[in-house]
Amino acid sequence: MICAIGNPVFDDIRTPWVHTDGRVLSGCSTNAALAYAKLGGQTAMVGNVGDNERPGLERHLRRCGIDYHLGRSPESGGFKLDYDDRGNRELTVLGIAEPIAEIPPRYFDCDALLFGPILQETTAGLIREVRAKYDGLMFLDPQGLLRRHVNGSIEHFCPKGIEDIVGLFDYVKPNELETEVLTGIDPRKDVRAAAKKIKSWGPKVVIVTLAELGSVIYDGEEFIDIPPYAVHAADPTGAGDTYAGGFLFAHLGGADLEAAGRFASCTSSIMIEQTGPDFTLERAEVLRRAATLPVPAPAIPQ
Ligand SMILES: Nc1ncnc2c1ncn2[C@@H]1O[C@H](COP(=O)(O)OP(=O)(O)OP(=O)(O)O)[C@@H](O)[C@H]1O
Ligand SMILES: [Mg+2]
Repeated sequence: MICAIGNPVFDDIRTPWVHTDGRVLSGCSTNAALAYAKLGGQTAMVGNVGDNERPGLERHLRRCGIDYHLGRSPESGGFKLDYDDRGNRELTVLGIAEPIAEIPPRYFDCDALLFGPILQETTAGLIREVRAKYDGLMFLDPQGLLRRHVNGSIEHFCPKGIEDIVGLFDYVKPNELETEVLTGIDPRKDVRAAAKKIKSWGPKVVIVTLAELGSVIYDGEEFIDIPPYAVHAADPTGAGDTYAGGFLFAHLGGADLEAAGRFASCTSSIMIEQTGPDFTLERAEVLRRAATLPVPAPAIPQ
């Protein structure tokens, strides 16, 4: 079982191709948990939600067979996401949920804990406390650690001491913006230098995702280029989150880094063809896509 930690959000998403009909369930931990569960893995989720959204969320998670611990919050998290035609997004805050106070002890038996905060709800204190008690695989999607709320909008920043926090994790998966915020290096210009810098802070494996260019996995010895599975990205929201779900599903099931990365790439390709959480994600289709991926060509020629 994995446990995904981070608040769910209810987002209003506009891309050049689709616009959600009202606010839809999303969020880094949520999308990863949904993907992992749809693939057939045992999944739990920890996060805070407002009373209005709680019944619907609980129904959704139960329908997907996801175990959960949902804390109370005066309101639920949410963003309005506006994408430009190059896939860049601007976030406006619709609601903010409370920080997560604790992880129930029963989840310390999980095979992996996936931290996927959306906006500072997994504090450095919580992460340190969990690391002190848990010696299994800790996976970080750092997006919510690098965001702050300023006058209704979200801006990115590099928190003081982030190197130490990143170093508490076994696997760390920033996207290209997060990689640049963390390292000061544009990964489209030098993905290897950026991955090396993050690796030097202590994680065993660094995964830099590069949207339509695929991803690069670095374990300190090898750089593994993972090709994208080419699709029309109607709504790229959750690409990185479902990548994490797919990666952990394959890797915990025994796949090596390269095979897990290819499986993850194809998992995310299915999500971005549609919008919202209600899409079919079948392991057989992920495997079918993965079998057609080209032999790795460098995501970015070095
Ligand atoms: N346009 C695309 N075409 C094919 N694959 C894509 C595309 N966009 C993303 N992907 C796949 O999804 C992975 C993660 O994408 P990306 O780097 O955009 O994540 P992200 O920005 O963290 O997304 P989010 O935070 O919304 O979950 C990529 O490495 C790639 O495998
Ligand atoms: Mg992301």
